[in-house]
Amino acid sequence: MLRPQRFAHEVDPGPVQIQPRKVHFDFADIPLHWIPGHPVASDVVGLLNIALPAFERWIVATYNEALPLVGDPKLAEDMRGFIGQESIHADMHEQALHNFMEANGIEPRKMLRQIDYLFSKVLAPSHSTNPKRRRNNLCDRLWLIAALEHYTAVLGDFALNNAWEDHGAHPAFVDLFRWHGAEEVEHRNVAHDVATYFSDSYLDRLGAMALAVTFLFGSFQTGTRYLLKKDPQVDLGWWQVQRLRWHDAKLGLLPKYRTLFGKNTVAYLRPGFSPDEMGSTAQAVAYLASSPAARAAHL
Ligand SMILES: [Fe+2]
Ligand SMILES: [Fe+2]
Repeated sequence: MLRPQRFAHEVDPGPVQIQPRKVHFDFADIPLHWIPGHPVASDVVGLLNIALPAFERWIVATYNEALPLVGDPKLAEDMRGFIGQESIHADMHEQALHNFMEANGIEPRKMLRQIDYLFSKVLAPSHSTNPKRRRNNLCDRLWLIAALEHYTAVLGDFALNNAWEDHGAHPAFVDLFRWHGAEEVEHRNVAHDVATYFSDSYLDRLGAMALAVTFLFGSFQTGTRYLLKKDPQVDLGWWQVQRLRWHDAKLGLLPKYRTLFGKNTVAYLRPGFSPDEMGSTAQAVAYLASSPAARAAHL
């Protein structure tokens, strides 16, 4: 597989129309440790197949709720493209969950129940009879999506530029996360623009980021622990997992915590922050044009 190209200087591809792409993946016969010899990196990234379907469908539901309230046609068009992309991401990770993780002996029911409760109950729309309260609740969710989409863009940029293929990672999974990551980079402005359209408030941005970073850090820790306990092929204690995670991050197989939760969080908090600063649209679009799964869908 060709390594994605990183341009020395951003080549402006012009206005990008956000649109869903057809893809076809074959997840049969992929070993659980799809980065050979790296169970922690394999499981931490594999964890996304459990968490992402419910998360992305919650985003789609929230955007479908917000869309009729948007009077800006360009923003509404971006939202429709964004909804289409996130729906396909959710479907593909659900396929990977069944055809790769469950097929490899991972039983994720307890975690799926908790994730489902979070997105369908805790983060459900308000049913208040007060329209102002309902609107505030929608704005809170849109800002939370914007803060979380900051991290999906950062992770997307990581997926496009990491060292997976140098360590023999399975090409179908490399492509799954690179295709998804590239679309996250491509649509990285949308959630920020939507949240700003509904409530242009720095305080809302701060509050959403505080919640997002706490939630993500906690989820990474508990999810990794849960999945490594479920992994029938390894028996690792907490310290061993931390040590291997640190080692895999040093090799470029996982993002470093200090970059993900430190540097990138600080960047987002700067008042003049723009999602454009995260990743390269040119690189993302170039990868999407050559993604094996996107090409396979057109055969
Ligand atoms: Fe996504
Ligand atoms: Fe996204």
